[in-house]
Amino acid sequence: MQTIVEDVREGNGAAIAQAAEIIRAGELVAFPTETVYGLGANGLDGDACGRIYEAKGRPSDNPLILHVSDWHMLKQVAKDIPPMAEKLMTAFMPGPLTLILPRSEAVPDKVTGGLDTVGVRMPENPVARSLIRVAGVPIAAPSANRSGRPSPTTAAAVLRDLSGRIPMILNGGPCRYGVESTIVDCTEDVATILRPGAISLEEIRELLGDCRLDAALRGEDAKPKAPGMKYRHYAPNAPLTVFVGEPEAVAQAILEEAKKIETAGKTVGILGSRELLRKLSDVVPSATLQSYGSQGDLATIASRLYACLLAFDGLAVDAILAEGVGEQGLGLAIMNRLKKASGGHVVCV
Ligand code: TXA
Ligand code: MG
Repeated sequence: MQTIVEDVREGNGAAIAQAAEIIRAGELVAFPTETVYGLGANGLDGDACGRIYEAKGRPSDNPLILHVSDWHMLKQVAKDIPPMAEKLMTAFMPGPLTLILPRSEAVPDKVTGGLDTVGVRMPENPVARSLIRVAGVPIAAPSANRSGRPSPTTAAAVLRDLSGRIPMILNGGPCRYGVESTIVDCTEDVATILRPGAISLEEIRELLGDCRLDAALRGEDAKPKAPGMKYRHYAPNAPLTVFVGEPEAVAQAILEEAKKIETAGKTVGILGSRELLRKLSDVVPSATLQSYGSQGDLATIASRLYACLLAFDGLAVDAILAEGVGEQGLGLAIMNRLKKASGGHVVCV
């Protein structure tokens, strides 16, 4: 199968109409959202959703989220909207938020993996919104990467993972946030974050008065409630170690580890802030450095994170050392992705 890439950065009604037609015909289209690129199928068509699992190589017990363009469509797929969900919707939708709600009968089992709940998200990206509106159906979409790989934040990254496996990619330019949506379970008495994202725990607590983190996110040895969160994820090819602590101590620890790797005759990649890399570039000149932005500029760090991880694959390093960030605000989502990408290999210094 040949994969067509259509440029929709300045609007392209014809390409969006063609993409909507492909979705209605039960095939797949990759499209931009404000978080990461999604791999979309008609969310009311179980066979079409099955194609998503094939193209991604995704485990079949990992449910899909449905993307809607308006409230009417949202109410088609959710049986009930609890008051806390209503508040979250009013405050943050459209936007980088996915709500877990009781599912309606219209939702196929292929989407929910047999659960009695469904994940629903209303993206704000204009290309995503018009694609869903023109297709006229909710669009089931996971991130548009091969399962386990970093999520794509550009059309080029989608193409690298899925070329020849899907008919069409809409290129809407780089994604604004760069990490996937915050997932909030609204089916119990207290809202619970199952996956941190651009809408922070602090913002949700301020709105609702209370919000929990899923036990698996609190570092407890519990099964994550979002099935997809149990897999190693977002991983570049080389093994990754994350260092957290005071900036000076982190710099020292990364430096020592980098020297050790080089002494063993291997190549090392370092991912971190501009401030850290400036300190290291003279001392480990042969290291491959990727800057994710300035220390503390969490929005920039989030938006560059996956592209940096993917860049190391092209540079073919043997090991990657990464500088962690504080876990406040967007930092919680960044650290969640770094921890997953490292398979839990985190060094506290
Ligand atoms: O930002 C995003 O959410 C992106 C863009 C494309 O919208 N999508 C995305 O989808 O990240 P995906 O499939 O890569 O991640 C969805 C996560 C998975 O971990 C899945 O297990 C979880 O949501 N999930 C889906 N339905 C669920 C449900 N009913 N209950 C609990 N977790 C659910
Ligand atoms: Mg994903």
